[in-house]
Amino acid sequence: MKAFTSVRGLGRTDLESLVLETIEMRRALDRGAPLDQSLEGVCVANLFFEPSTRTRLSFDLATQRLGGHVITFFPESSSATKGESLRDTVLTVGGIGADILVVRHRMEGIPASVGEWTGLPVVNAGDGANEHPSQALVDAATIHQHFDHLEGLRMAIIGDVAHSRVAGSLIHAMATLGVDLTLVGPEEWLPAQSALPKKTDIDTLVGEIDVAYLLRVQTERGGVISNDYVDKYGLDSQRAARMSDRAVIMHPGPINRGVEIADQVADSPRSLIVEQVRNGVPARMVILRALAKGRP
Ligand code: NCD
Repeated sequence: MKAFTSVRGLGRTDLESLVLETIEMRRALDRGAPLDQSLEGVCVANLFFEPSTRTRLSFDLATQRLGGHVITFFPESSSATKGESLRDTVLTVGGIGADILVVRHRMEGIPASVGEWTGLPVVNAGDGANEHPSQALVDAATIHQHFDHLEGLRMAIIGDVAHSRVAGSLIHAMATLGVDLTLVGPEEWLPAQSALPKKTDIDTLVGEIDVAYLLRVQTERGGVISNDYVDKYGLDSQRAARMSDRAVIMHPGPINRGVEIADQVADSPRSLIVEQVRNGVPARMVILRALAKGRP
């Protein structure tokens, strides 16, 4: 693999192998098994121009678990504040000796441009409202781990779909893997160009799905939380109680308790939110290993 900037170029077989490798890596981590040191001598630079907790830390730990070095760039204390261009900044990071760049930026397409400017393998850790491909791998692996398959599961992605880069990658990945998807939210947050089924009413489908995937309202990208949002779309205990016994609840985090998800629902036994966080490290290990090996 030369870059991991989008899930769009990945076929079903590629995605399935990444999912199965992630699950296998998770098991190895849980057992405390010796891990292959495929990043030995490899330097991974984390370039996060937008805030992050779980994504950045899991790329950090993923690198270290595979024997690599991490260097971290903080834009607010960097020469970007002295007027250095983004292109010059990333060329500097490459010049220092980084072998793989992990990039998060508020503008769509920046990770791909960074790959072109530097010639280095780049992971897109979130570009504007476009894509967040490593989160899609985390989520696909979490669902597969729980149900033991993906094909034919019914999933609703609920909330601010239009402004969400998580949804941007997840929709494509889930469709490729044979998951039956519905997008749910206020009309203005449902992407008009998508051919998937769309619903503005969560209550008509909450009892029919296997996975309720909730999104944070992306206020930094123009999403506005209306007064009736919680009432109409928030997953509270009453709605969760109408879900089927086997159904699960997911959220990429950070969660806004009391907005898209009620406190008790986020912490309930059917919530896989903690599992998603736990799968962050193995998924990123699998991605970095594939990039380091330059594997197709
Ligand atoms: C997401 C992001 O930054 O895109 N977080 C994450 O990486 N898990 C989701 C969000 O901020 O809502």
